[in-house]
Amino acid sequence: MALLTMSGLKKSFGSIEVLRGIDLEINPSEVVGLVGDNGAGKSTLMKSITGVYSLDEGNIRFEDQNITSLAPGDRRARGIEMIYQDLALAPQQDIANNIFLGREPTKKLWGFLPGFVDKNKIDAEALSMIDRLGAQIPSIHVPVGRLSGGQQQTVAIARALTFDPKLVIMDEPTAALAVREVEGVLKLIDQMQNSGIAVILISHRLNDIFAACQRIVVLRRGSVIADLQQEATDMNEVVSYIVGAHG
Ligand SMILES: Nc1ncnc2c1ncn2[C@@H]1O[C@H](COP(=O)(O)OP(=O)(O)OP(=O)(O)O)[C@@H](O)[C@H]1O
Ligand SMILES: [Mg+2]
Repeated sequence: MALLTMSGLKKSFGSIEVLRGIDLEINPSEVVGLVGDNGAGKSTLMKSITGVYSLDEGNIRFEDQNITSLAPGDRRARGIEMIYQDLALAPQQDIANNIFLGREPTKKLWGFLPGFVDKNKIDAEALSMIDRLGAQIPSIHVPVGRLSGGQQQTVAIARALTFDPKLVIMDEPTAALAVREVEGVLKLIDQMQNSGIAVILISHRLNDIFAACQRIVVLRRGSVIADLQQEATDMNEVVSYIVGAHG
């Protein structure tokens, strides 16, 4: 059974029809590449899955439940996570704080006074998360704004994983990274898949898409125009779909 099923999704912004009836399924622990030209509707489609945007038409099922009208927080609680292009990290805060941003575990003082942030617990859990990801990060106490792009991406992934997701959507995670850092992110995607998480990877870098994804979906002007098995296609074919050479 599919993990996520999108049926007839439509979305317009004003007079612009951005999603024109999207039908798409994502299976459990599958890594799917979502590609398409600028403005094709990739980010809009993903934000419709997370609930940031509400749809004009269509419905979305997750684990066979209709989630179409659920709030973003409820979708996250069911296991849908998205790492946005801008990462939405707090640059002046340290790594541990970023991983637990907005929901720090609290230690009850003398068993009854609530509301104190348990910094030791945050640090320990952040450290074990970063270790598990095999990331090389100088110290958990470094402000995130001073980390490299790849390290920041790792922090964003670590943060997503603390929600125990079943689906992680990544919007252009490798766009600004150096080659070695790209490899690190692709390895993390592999690790997520091995632990049973499905990943939707948006990227304009077809090398990364071909390295990470078993399936490649091409969006063009708000429609899915190709849904290809990675081993049955090649970059030329994918590019021809992206630019519309297939009509
Ligand atoms: N909040 C919004 N309000 C109005 N128009 C929007 C909004 N978000 C996106 N659009 C428009 O919808 C279309 C699709 O945008 P979207 O960001 O989904 O494309 P994309 O495939 O993610 O492109 P890119 O590869 O450049 O990130 C574009 O024409 C864009 O201008
Ligand atoms: Mg986008």
